Amino acid sequence: MKYEIAVLPGDGIGPEVVAEAVKVLEAVGRKFGPEFVFRYDDVGGAAIDKYGVALNKDTLKMCKRTRAVLLGAVGGPKWDDPLGKVRPEDGLLALRKGLGLFANLRPVKVHPVLVDSTTLKPDVVRGVDLLVVRELTGGLYFGRPKRRWQTTRGRRAVDSMAYSEAEIERIVRAGFELARSRRRKLTSVDKANVLESSRLWRQIATELSAQYPDVELQHQLVDTCAMRLIQRPAEFDVIVTENTFGDILTDEASMLAGSMGMLPSASLAGIPREGTAIFGLYEPIHGSSPKRAGQNMANPIATILSGAMMLRYSLGLSAEAEAVEHAVSRVLEDGYRTYDIMSDGMKKLGTREMGDLIAARVA
Ligand code: IPM
Ligand code: MG
Repeated sequence: MKYEIAVLPGDGIGPEVVAEAVKVLEAVGRKFGPEFVFRYDDVGGAAIDKYGVALNKDTLKMCKRTRAVLLGAVGGPKWDDPLGKVRPEDGLLALRKGLGLFANLRPVKVHPVLVDSTTLKPDVVRGVDLLVVRELTGGLYFGRPKRRWQTTRGRRAVDSMAYSEAEIERIVRAGFELARSRRRKLTSVDKANVLESSRLWRQIATELSAQYPDVELQHQLVDTCAMRLIQRPAEFDVIVTENTFGDILTDEASMLAGSMGMLPSASLAGIPREGTAIFGLYEPIHGSSPKRAGQNMANPIATILSGAMMLRYSLGLSAEAEAVEHAVSRVLEDGYRTYDIMSDGMKKLGTREMGDLIAARVA
């Protein structure tokens, strides 16, 4: 079977970590037989330099013709002017919107051998295995009006948190479906004590729960959730939430795993269900880390695990996805580390060496 994959390495460490994920996918191809055809293009700062825009129209078209997109990271000091006309991040937002990627899956799993590399107490993070399902194409990020203007009393700016019933329904449903395939606990996170859009969100979540009697639904306010995430993180199974809340909570949750360099993500254009393949974009949740770029330092595991999520959700290759995840676990159990998860007595590797070792364990 032949699969076309769009590859957008982006900026900073993006190209380095993406190269390792491609290497591991190629090892999967050799071992299990699927043939991957990689179509490369630029996004973010790299696209601004090349095309003058953060996402070229033809790049978006090319992505639409593929089965899935693998992305590195965007952004860097070179394009950081807050008043600049084009920003690398716009490329990412245009991809999410343009490809209809409304469901962002961010799993946070603490590997047993890494419980000591977090800033939290080992007893708090041990056993953490949660999944944040973040709404990705609505809310504050895209709501209208969104603008900035001059008034007689100074400058003013507005962003809008807007949600339609349909937008809430499909993301909460994704949460229920995913909870069903896990420990059957869904925490719907909102700010219903203050926000109207959150009150609608909560109502729809409650209505939907009638269709999922096997899943335990709990509502939680976003500030409470932020607290619980560092107090008793192991109690969470699936969290479903609005775009901005999800952005903030996932950075917080990522620290449970010791390093952002460990965490993959999937952004899907549909509701994941057993046995279906959905178009999606896959990227590590860390950024472009410009300071580490070009030094063969960055941890490629988040991108490699994003590749595993691609195999599972967009290509329907779950045995292959598991083979990649096992390869990563075994390399960690054998004591290999990149700088960000390094501890005493472990063997330190660079980006390429880590990728080589994981690819070798797959093959
Ligand atoms: C993320 C990032 C993006 C976001 C930025 C780069 C636009 O923080 O994927 O979490 O805010 O969604
Ligand atoms: Mg973020």
